[in-house]
Amino acid sequence: MRLDSMLVFMSVVVSHIIFSQSMIEYPEEDNQHAKDLFSNWRKRHSKTYKNGSVEHIKYQTFLENLKIANQLNRLASKYDSEMPPTFGLSPYVDLTPKEFKQRFLNRFIQSNISSRRTSNRTKSRKQRDTNSGSVTGCFDWSEVYGVVTSVKDQGSTGACWAIAGCGNIEGLWAIKTGSSSPDLSSQAVLDCNGIFQNQALACGPTGGNPMAFYEFLVNEGGMLQESDYPFCVGNGSCSPCAPPGYSTLHCGPWFTPSCNVSESCSAKYNRSKFIPGLKVVDYAILSQNENSLAADLKNIGPLVAALHGRDLQLYTGGVLRALTCNKYNLDHVVLLTGYNITENGASYWIAKNSWGAMWGEKGFFRISFGSEACGINKLCATGFLA
Ligand SMILES: *[C@@H]1O[C@H](CO)[C@@H](O)[C@H](O)[C@H]1NC(C)=O
Ligand SMILES: *[C@@H]1O[C@H](CO)[C@@H](O)[C@H](O)[C@H]1NC(C)=O
Ligand SMILES: *[C@@H]1O[C@H](CO)[C@@H](O)[C@H](O)[C@H]1NC(C)=O
Ligand SMILES: *[C@@H]1O[C@H](CO)[C@@H](O)[C@H](O)[C@H]1NC(C)=O
Ligand SMILES: *[C@@H]1O[C@H](CO)[C@@H](O)[C@H](O)[C@H]1NC(C)=O
Ligand SMILES: *[C@@H]1O[C@H](CO)[C@@H](O)[C@H](O)[C@H]1NC(C)=O
Ligand SMILES: *[C@@H]1O[C@H](CO)[C@@H](O)[C@H](O)[C@H]1NC(C)=O
Repeated sequence: MRLDSMLVFMSVVVSHIIFSQSMIEYPEEDNQHAKDLFSNWRKRHSKTYKNGSVEHIKYQTFLENLKIANQLNRLASKYDSEMPPTFGLSPYVDLTPKEFKQRFLNRFIQSNISSRRTSNRTKSRKQRDTNSGSVTGCFDWSEVYGVVTSVKDQGSTGACWAIAGCGNIEGLWAIKTGSSSPDLSSQAVLDCNGIFQNQALACGPTGGNPMAFYEFLVNEGGMLQESDYPFCVGNGSCSPCAPPGYSTLHCGPWFTPSCNVSESCSAKYNRSKFIPGLKVVDYAILSQNENSLAADLKNIGPLVAALHGRDLQLYTGGVLRALTCNKYNLDHVVLLTGYNITENGASYWIAKNSWGAMWGEKGFFRISFGSEACGINKLCATGFLA
């Protein structure tokens, strides 16, 4: 063997060893290993399919996604990071990226947010934010009893904007009262809020933005508990009619052509059941400076954050960074609950998602701090209570 081909051979062997030590490589072809992975994954997530041909299509999609997961894992391993993100057998590995986007992401977050309208409160906060120094250390509202409620599951909807918004108010309410917060009703906001004004757009379970979430609550003043108005669109157990003011022009046709009035806002929304004392008086779209945001998170409570959710489909853990996502195509909304900011380590945000506790790190994920990863800083918001 010639010396140069010997060197190539050796470097392949060495890189293979390093490679296989640091990450899982999934089968990309149809073989027994792949079949076993699929059937174990189906058991774990209780996935049933209508018939053999649907199952076959799902298996092909599964294999395609394992290829994508391998690519993402390889891409992630290029960065010198202590906690690289991992991709693989997430609950959504049987959906094509297109199906995933259509069913789980939010089409109605303003992508051009530099021109967004800001409330009066926002302006005064923005001025204050620029003065905040840099934050270091580790902080997580999940460790403060009652502030971060259980992980929700939005099901096959774009209801993230309402669920994350409720998470923000739940946190503020727990901090204000010093006791654990009840779950708040995201379904009531989805069913009753059809706001379209300025930058605020509410399109029910297909999507909406944080501005619309808060505009509605400031108008209403109060909120209902989840137990008084439970979440039901996620598994198709209700067919609500379009909320008052729903803009077909901006949102498209209402998601269900056959709606049921008795499962809608007009029949279910009862203001006399508002949680006594809970009043949302204002909100702010926060500065995009990540150090300011970390200070806000610590001072105010868990914050709403939009991001581009593309790399989340197959995410299974670790600190996410911008691999194929970008910072402009915001299409998902989550709740920032904490951060770990170190001088020279891998700094990250901690966020609660609404895709159930089987997804990611028990329903949470971590994402790189300080690099506008997937636009996590681009549209952050909080409400304010009376
Ligand atoms: C399997 O189910 C799908 C989806 O309901 C349907 O479109 C298809 O015709 C069915 N195929 C067979 C062979 O029954
Ligand atoms: C976003 O809005 C700003 C200000 O209105 C405008 O200058 C810019 O061109 C817009 N960007 C896109 C991508 O639409
Ligand atoms: C915001 O400020 C404008 C101009 O100062 C004022 O007219 C308006 O009433 C204020 N809005 C709120 C909600 O305070
Ligand atoms: C749908 O979800 C609701 C709330 O989580 C639950 O009570 C109900 O049993 C579910 N229905 C079906 C058909 O899965
Ligand atoms: C409408 O919703 C009510 C309450 O869930 C239910 O009892 C009724 O059967 C539904 N009607 C139709 C036509 O589905
Ligand atoms: C609304 O809730 C109040 C308080 O629980 C109750 O007395 C009233 O009957 C409810 N109204 C309707 C229309 O259900
Ligand atoms: C914070 O991050 C550093 C390195 O980036 C890590 O060593 C440390 O364990 C993290 N702290 C916690 C509480 O997870």
